[in-house]
Amino acid sequence: AMAKHQRFREAHELTAKLYNYILMNTDAGVQALNYLENRGISRKTMVDFRLGFAPKTNNTVVSFLRKRGFQDEELVACGLAVEMGTGLVDRFRGRVMVPICDKKGQVIAFGGRTMDAKVKPKYLNSPEYDLFHKSRLLYNYHDARKLIRQGRVALLLEGYMDVISLAQAGVLHGVATLGTSLTEEQAALLKTDCDKTIVAYDGDAAGRKATVRAIDILLGAGIEPLILQIPDGQDPDEYVQANGGEAFGRLMQRRTLSVVQFLLDDMRQQANLTSSVGRTAFVRDALQLLAKRATPVEQEYEMRNLSQEFNLSVETLKEELRGFAKLNK
Ligand code: UTP
Ligand code: MN
Ligand code: MN
Ligand code: MN
Ligand code: MN
Repeated sequence: AMAKHQRFREAHELTAKLYNYILMNTDAGVQALNYLENRGISRKTMVDFRLGFAPKTNNTVVSFLRKRGFQDEELVACGLAVEMGTGLVDRFRGRVMVPICDKKGQVIAFGGRTMDAKVKPKYLNSPEYDLFHKSRLLYNYHDARKLIRQGRVALLLEGYMDVISLAQAGVLHGVATLGTSLTEEQAALLKTDCDKTIVAYDGDAAGRKATVRAIDILLGAGIEPLILQIPDGQDPDEYVQANGGEAFGRLMQRRTLSVVQFLLDDMRQQANLTSSVGRTAFVRDALQLLAKRATPVEQEYEMRNLSQEFNLSVETLKEELRGFAKLNK
């Protein structure tokens, strides 16, 4: 099995080099090069992240790896080729390629982005196989790990491009889940290196929902989550490309929320504060949340805010909160 796995790694390493060469040095790669440059990705970043291009042709990788002694069965088993009626075909065709590394920094899979908005899926990923289990792995973990250990804090992102653009802008502790929500295994991996994790998912509704889920997974692993909401519905890539790394650094300094602050904020966005029934319901839900999750200091602080906003005495709020606290016992 070890020998087999070593062959899979070799096939991926060679393929990553080939894709990168095609992107940076050939006519076939020009369109992809332009695409990445238009997205603000520098040549240095393309080299650092080993980005590439898989040409549209049917069997560039298949014939390249056959010449290097790989068997057809091996190429299918590790997801680089697929069996078609007529024979073996490259899995990735006409896509910008992002190599995915394991904990040791060896390429074991790819994500391939279409440049054509009409083509679905937007990202085609390697299938799960012996060496690639999406739920156990974080994108860029190998490279970010040292920095995460130093600061005891990780930055959790949604996408490949978020990690890449932030790193280019000097924010180097970003890792991403691979299109799925955070798993317990991934959180356990993070826990070996950090005590806190900044969750900076996309600023859209899907991102907010995923954040709520990630919070409980992180807490379950003993990690303190801090939540960074990107303004204007942007994702971190869009934000940093528009505003730069220093601006992102300021966001991390000034706009990260505690779990309680984020959940209150989320509740507020879903509440109907224009009706008195809605306002009462919001205050009740907020107190219930504070009773369940907040420290005494947070409770006091948030109750003062609620008291001012809804013109209720802190005494009344405290009394109701005490009721909820009893229920939790
Ligand atoms: P997003 O849709 O937020 O994409 O998906 P993105 O990262 O912002 O990509 P760009 O900026 O449009 O290029 C977040 C992540 O979900 C996974 C990928 O890992 C992606 O980075 N994903 C998304 C897929 O695996 N397949 C898809 O079709 C879409
Ligand atoms: Mn396995
Ligand atoms: Mn998204
Ligand atoms: Mn995104
Ligand atoms: Mn994006």
